[in-house]
Amino acid sequence: MSQHLLLPFVILAISPIPGALQDSALSPTQEEPEDLDCGRPEPSTRIMGGSEAQPGSWPWQVSLHQRGGHICGGSLIAPSWVLSAAHCFVTNGTLEPATEWSVLLGVHSQDGPLDSAHARAVAAILVPDNYSSVELGADLALLRLASPARLGPAVRPICLPRASHRFAHGTACWATGWGDIQEADPLPLPWALQEVELRLLGEAACQCLYSRPGPFNLTFQLLPGMLCAGYPEGRRDTCQGDSGGPLVCEEGGQWFQAGITSFGFGCGRRNRPGVFTAVAPYEAWIREQVMGSEPGPAFPTQSWEPQPGPWEPTDENCTIALPECGKAPRPGTWPWEARVMVPGSRPCHGALVSESWVLAPASCFLDPINSDLLPRDLDNWRVLLPSRPRAELVARFVPHENASWDDTSDLALLQLQTPVNLSTASRPVCLPHPEHYFLPRSRCRLARWGRGEPEPGPSTLLEAELLGGWWCHCLYGRQGESVPPPGDPPHALCPAYQEEEEAGRCWNYSHWSLLCQEEGTWFLAGISDFSSGCLRPRAFYPLQTHGPWISHVTRGAYLEDQLTWDWGPEGEETETQACPPHTEHGGEGLGLRGLWGS
Ligand code: ARG
Repeated sequence: MSQHLLLPFVILAISPIPGALQDSALSPTQEEPEDLDCGRPEPSTRIMGGSEAQPGSWPWQVSLHQRGGHICGGSLIAPSWVLSAAHCFVTNGTLEPATEWSVLLGVHSQDGPLDSAHARAVAAILVPDNYSSVELGADLALLRLASPARLGPAVRPICLPRASHRFAHGTACWATGWGDIQEADPLPLPWALQEVELRLLGEAACQCLYSRPGPFNLTFQLLPGMLCAGYPEGRRDTCQGDSGGPLVCEEGGQWFQAGITSFGFGCGRRNRPGVFTAVAPYEAWIREQVMGSEPGPAFPTQSWEPQPGPWEPTDENCTIALPECGKAPRPGTWPWEARVMVPGSRPCHGALVSESWVLAPASCFLDPINSDLLPRDLDNWRVLLPSRPRAELVARFVPHENASWDDTSDLALLQLQTPVNLSTASRPVCLPHPEHYFLPRSRCRLARWGRGEPEPGPSTLLEAELLGGWWCHCLYGRQGESVPPPGDPPHALCPAYQEEEEAGRCWNYSHWSLLCQEEGTWFLAGISDFSSGCLRPRAFYPLQTHGPWISHVTRGAYLEDQLTWDWGPEGEETETQACPPHTEHGGEGLGLRGLWGS
């Protein structure tokens, strides 16, 4: 994501500008020969969670290139003018030279030789004086093309709203761009323009969502001149590389640009809709910059009287979206539990991570010698999910590229032939983002993972408390084993199991996964066991480093933000930073008991 006011932009009464920019009604009239028709694609015919656009359906969309590569989007507002975002051109407070940039018009796929007929050099880049950084607003820019665009079916301008134009909350609008399809996941070849339908969120509704702590416990103050669009549940959004591109809404057969893609927190995260620069408040600034240019942008009059918006939730009372993953009716009844049945071997335990994908250890399916797929034929594979009457068929098997030589990457994804409808009985487990920090003392459980020995007992009910990373490292050190010291992301997650200790036995099922709870939501926090023996506490490989791979493959796994930030009364200093000198504690498991209840 790149970044991130707009001083209450005083909307002045605009005095008619000579030669252009008069009220243009829906059809240009003789009195306004300079006003172009705008916002009308040829009758036809990613953005995150979007799909490929129909070529030519967004003829005002442009791609802004610097050093031969796509950096930002933009929109054609007049033959010689492109509207985009300021942050695309300002680095460390300095405006980049216009000569470094070029504008591509009328393109759909950016793969292959780009027809120079579609390219224009940039003569000037104009940014409002009060722009400093995206979080402070005024994130817009105007680019004057060195020569006017040749208009045609694939190259047409968008209509701009007047300052008085009101877009109703809840209106379904569209954002377009060649940006990432998920966080840190670039648009794949053939780099075709993506579109996504986003709903306009009222200011209060948006502020309400952003007032709930999100990633990194952050909240954000929405400012005048910003506009939100998206969904409380997330999943559909713009992302890095879409910036500068348009958010457009149809009114009476004509498309108006309501917003400019500006910033967000991550992409598609829950309660974190995309933030756009609202275009209407900048009518005066835009007119001022393009004054005298002929023809300039069209600002058609809104065809309906702005209505007061529907009832809007206020700050204290709004509907925030709750996680859709990781809800279990009761511990041990895991709605994501998946058993993969491969002919000739015991079932392999995995977890449902989206409507269509199951995560399981790759070692269940790969020949340890040559890492070939054991029963090569996916046709006979079956997946059993809780309370699904019939076994699911498997369409695709995607092992992690390091699966066969790196235990920490012993993972594979299996795509189901038919996606499951999520319900209380079948739903995915939440996965952590790489920056997730499971707090020491988090409540966790073991769940079966892979092809272990038959179940030794009510093991899936083993309850555990996560130990601090230093405790784990030090306790292991005393047992002559090595667990690396804590890192960011962590190298190991160590839960201490009280029941197990008390029973004085060692459940040596070879594989387990570690589920940890935050605010009643379960995360798949770790997998497998460091030690094959009975060393305690158990140490798990954290799953969070694999989040990006899992979302890349599945395009829609439920990566959820950290939900608990409460460090407790002791604050952050609950952990020692080094191992205490060896004292009377020497034996296995010693030192653990002192942690309980403390
Ligand atoms: N600033 C980004 C860019 O430069 C756009 C990010 C939009 N993010 C979002 N979550 N809506 O491309």
